[in-house]
Amino acid sequence: MLLFSIFGDPVAHSISPRLHNSVLAGLGIDGCYVRQAITDPLKLLSTFHAMDLTGANVTVPHKEAAFAQCDEVRGVAKEIGAVNTLVKEGTRVIGYNTDAEGFYEAIKSFGAIKNALILGAGGTAKAIAMILKTHQIEATILNRSASRLTFFEAKGFTCKTWETFSPIPYDLIINTTSAGLKEEAYPCEEKLLKSIFQEATYAFDVIYNKQTPFLELAKEYHLTCKDGKEMLLYQGVLAFNLFFAKHYDAKIIESLMRPAFEL
Ligand SMILES: NC(=O)c1ccc[n+]([C@@H]2O[C@H](COP(=O)([O-])OP(=O)(O)OC[C@H]3O[C@@H](n4cnc5c(N)ncnc54)[C@H](OP(=O)(O)O)[C@@H]3O)[C@@H](O)[C@H]2O)c1
Repeated sequence: MLLFSIFGDPVAHSISPRLHNSVLAGLGIDGCYVRQAITDPLKLLSTFHAMDLTGANVTVPHKEAAFAQCDEVRGVAKEIGAVNTLVKEGTRVIGYNTDAEGFYEAIKSFGAIKNALILGAGGTAKAIAMILKTHQIEATILNRSASRLTFFEAKGFTCKTWETFSPIPYDLIINTTSAGLKEEAYPCEEKLLKSIFQEATYAFDVIYNKQTPFLELAKEYHLTCKDGKEMLLYQGVLAFNLFFAKHYDAKIIESLMRPAFEL
């Protein structure tokens, strides 16, 4: 039997086992996907080997640590510096980032996008900024504090803090901060957000299963909105296919994963 796992701290809330097990069952694969809490980030790869895994996903706060420990990193993950998918290839472990591609899949239903404003400068913002760049969509990063902007400046993005920012029209506004997750907060000053929304067409919040103040306000300004649910779904679909050397039809995986997602 093939074994897969999600690694993180905490992982009890993760729906990845539900998503992946429903695809394994639906495809008749003799496999099981479990959760494994990892507190010491240095033990990611040793745990992968000790459990004799075929593949794993990595969630907060270990994506950078996983990047550092893989035998090889492929694709956009090399630019991002973080991996969320580990795949056994012979005796080696290969790292990928499907958050980035998952986000891009999720915004495909939006119309043409020339430029985007990313609120926040954490790991998720890195993945989104790099995939937008790959698809020639100009991204500006706006963060509360300056220290996390260094990564983006080095990659050539326009970077601003709340103090240095003067808005121009953006097609898409993306909230990658955790503002609105636990408390009813906007990711930046309400007045500023209103002026940005006035000129925008699309709003995306990476937070899922919750109507955030960010998306509520975007709807008031008649923007086309999406939360992070589809991003989560597509990162899972893409990860599943990486576990199996991409020989399944992504549409079939999606059709098996989506009902489990809606439970
Ligand atoms: N939908 C999906 O598939 C998916 C995938 C991955 C992550 N996520 C979600 O993405 C979110 C961010 O994760 P992450 O790993 O990128 O986090 P992170 O690395 O900790 O970065 C958090 C960012 O949010 C900013 N921030 C935090 N609280 C804020 C507030 N109250 N006001 C303004 N800015 C604030 C931080 O600014 P400072 O630098 O100033 O501290 C930082 O830039 C989480 O909610 C996570 O669940 C969703």
